[in-house]
Amino acid sequence: MTLSNILAPSTDTDALIDRRAVGYSLEAPFYTDPQIFDLDMAAIFARHWLFSAAEAEIPDPGDFVTVDIGAYSVIIVRDDDEEVRAFHNVCRHRGSRILQQACGSVGNLVCPYHQWTYRVDGELVYAESQPPEFDRSRLGLRPVHVRTLAGLIFICLGDEPPGDLDEVAAVLEPYLSPYGLADTKVAHQVDLVEEGNWKLVMENNRECQHCDTAHPELITAYFPLFGYSENDITPRLRPVFERYRAAQDHLSNACSVTGFPRDERRELDTRITGFQVSHLPLDGGGASFGADGNPVSRKLLGDIEDERFGDLSIHMQPNAWFHMLSDHAVVFRVLPVAPGRSVVRTTWLVHADAQEGVDYDVDNLTAVWNATNLQDRDLVAGAQRGVTDPGYVPGPYSMVEGDVESFVNWYVGRLRTYLTP
Ligand code: FES
Ligand SMILES: [Fe+2]
Repeated sequence: MTLSNILAPSTDTDALIDRRAVGYSLEAPFYTDPQIFDLDMAAIFARHWLFSAAEAEIPDPGDFVTVDIGAYSVIIVRDDDEEVRAFHNVCRHRGSRILQQACGSVGNLVCPYHQWTYRVDGELVYAESQPPEFDRSRLGLRPVHVRTLAGLIFICLGDEPPGDLDEVAAVLEPYLSPYGLADTKVAHQVDLVEEGNWKLVMENNRECQHCDTAHPELITAYFPLFGYSENDITPRLRPVFERYRAAQDHLSNACSVTGFPRDERRELDTRITGFQVSHLPLDGGGASFGADGNPVSRKLLGDIEDERFGDLSIHMQPNAWFHMLSDHAVVFRVLPVAPGRSVVRTTWLVHADAQEGVDYDVDNLTAVWNATNLQDRDLVAGAQRGVTDPGYVPGPYSMVEGDVESFVNWYVGRLRTYLTP
């Protein structure tokens, strides 16, 4: 592989993949070409587990959200037994969309066209003017694979979902369960349209090299010392380093007292359902994303008793990342809309008993990530404009962009598997 090999754009997907330069950003068509966008939808979004919603979004039987993934629409609904179910949002009569709304609550799922009526477990219970031999039992809503993981809902549109989610869940559940996400409520949710390919959104999320300059609000929460060893510490950095070490010790101790796993796990490109989990101490007050590291909600989540419990950060391929704090959680989902457009949904979760205006203030709760998201939106839009420019050629990843590279490695590997199973 030489650099000259990556200079000529092509829409021949196999050739593009074959000549991909490891360690370099992808060629332009991966971000701009409608054919590759369609391939992404088929190979990635129609076949992998996708983080889709938090259980807190559908707390009661009949509560639903709809999730649009390319041409697909999926109903995620809590049934009368409080199980989370997922169905294609397509009527079994003549195919109408059943639910148009993004979220809501229903007794039954009623098609607006001719009123075929389905229970929230998908069973067809009413269809007018049918012959006596009509067999309702064969015409329930078509299910979509769904799985909850410690209060997070994943769906898979494929017939055979990746079989490794159980293994991933076995790793992640001990980290997530203490936060009691199933016993939270949605304090706020924002959908942000980003003028960029979904991979640019993900790549931007997978590095913080840009954080110092781009995210003045966010960066104050973190220590500016990741990747430093004690030998790198200059006299000027010594006070920060000592503070960092004290916060690390505090967090390690808080974890060991409660039996909370502390190890970092990185399996971003070594399995089908790639993930990474790390637990970082926070600077300042060390509690949360409030001013000076202070809490933004008074009621701590789940079993967490120490407000200085850091930031449990989880990344999942292909479309999600999560931040768990002692007092709230922020969950992020990316869905593609077009080659150059994506929607990032951010959902803030607080303890189910936390009262707005008493225990938390929405503006305060959301300030850091609202600002950060808007800054990231602009970075992604700039990246999309750049890779669309005929002057773009792929460039090399730096030493602190390993997770970007892992994402791209994972993505290319999944395309290869799809194209040559
Ligand atoms: S298409 Fe749904 S009831 Fe006819
Ligand atoms: Fe960012």
